[in-house]
Amino acid sequence: MYFDNAATSYPKPDTVYEAVLDAMRNVGASPGRGGYRQSLEAGRIVFNARESAAEMFSISDSSRIIFTHNATASLNLALKGSLKQGDHVITTSMEHNSLMRPLYALESKGVELTIVTARGDGVVSVSDLRDAVKENTRLIAVAHVSNVCGVIQPIQQISDLCREVGAFFLLDAAQSAGYLPINVEKLPVDLLAVPGHKGLLGPSGTGLLYVGNSIELQPIIQGGTGGYSTATEQPLIVPDGFEAGTHNLSGIAGLQAGIQFILQTGIENIHDHDQSLLYQAEQALRKIKGLTVYGPEDPSCRCSVLSFTVSGVDSALLAAELDHGFDVAVRAGLHCAPLAHKTLGTLPGGTLRMSPGWFNTREEIAFFVDAVVQCTHKLRKSE
Ligand SMILES: Cc1ncc(COP(=O)(O)O)c(C=O)c1O
Repeated sequence: MYFDNAATSYPKPDTVYEAVLDAMRNVGASPGRGGYRQSLEAGRIVFNARESAAEMFSISDSSRIIFTHNATASLNLALKGSLKQGDHVITTSMEHNSLMRPLYALESKGVELTIVTARGDGVVSVSDLRDAVKENTRLIAVAHVSNVCGVIQPIQQISDLCREVGAFFLLDAAQSAGYLPINVEKLPVDLLAVPGHKGLLGPSGTGLLYVGNSIELQPIIQGGTGGYSTATEQPLIVPDGFEAGTHNLSGIAGLQAGIQFILQTGIENIHDHDQSLLYQAEQALRKIKGLTVYGPEDPSCRCSVLSFTVSGVDSALLAAELDHGFDVAVRAGLHCAPLAHKTLGTLPGGTLRMSPGWFNTREEIAFFVDAVVQCTHKLRKSE
């Protein structure tokens, strides 16, 4: 039973498997690399996927969407392509290593970095972010939803702050895309990093980065773009200059099908389903003595994941016991976000994290809770 959708979603809708296979078996060619029928068809697949992603995030010009291989690649491009020596960037203590490590690397090259510590429940204070702003602040980078405790950050206020102080806003939507509505132009967001393989239900090896008009992004990978071949420098044209090399055509075809599935199902329905499963799990788990749930007290201020510990029980052993005894897949540990655990007070062991998806049922949640009760009992007895 799979409850690790925060890492990658599984299973995918049937239409995703079919689209992947169809693109591999029946199209096969590289988009934008030839004038023959198959290459044009491949180009259409990529274009349609861009259009669907634009619809999903209310982006009026789909050419501002760059396909990548995951949210990590999107974040690296967003940060390294927009920040230079002397710039100041603000982020928070709730971020994933895929945002923090590129920032540390940039810091070693002369970018100034401020990490604002969130409250004990993971919520970032907008006034603390404001206090961190300097004259050279170029970017504020924040995860919409924490992969550690599911806290939903106040992104509208953060976007407003960015407008007020003239900084760009980078939103890491790794845990919110496909779960919460995101309107890029209304917020607004300047850079939106999205994995294709989590909430968007696409295959692994897919992701995207939206780049607003006001940003002049620099490419971080140089190579063939299909066009502009005589240029010795990488073209700065979005998206072509930023998608060097052969596309993940079958992955993008599957991503298109995943996004279509979400658009047809309705993001509100997906969100409601996810919230109701998380709520059911939380209410039942709270009956276990010594169990602590992390993040804001109010479950409506969290989404996508439920993170908890049980006193006297090692989270890693609990996850292993759930896997071996009950075939339940959950993740234990630090979830690639050590500062978030420092903030929440869950170092060094971290938490046990469960993250249901669209295809999980109430019966499965009941099974999961029962399995946690039994494993906890067993581990406590063996102490
Ligand atoms: C908040 C957050 N940002 C970024 C990432 C990186 O995503 P990807 O695995 O697509 O590179 C993750 C992955 O779990 C995440 O949770």
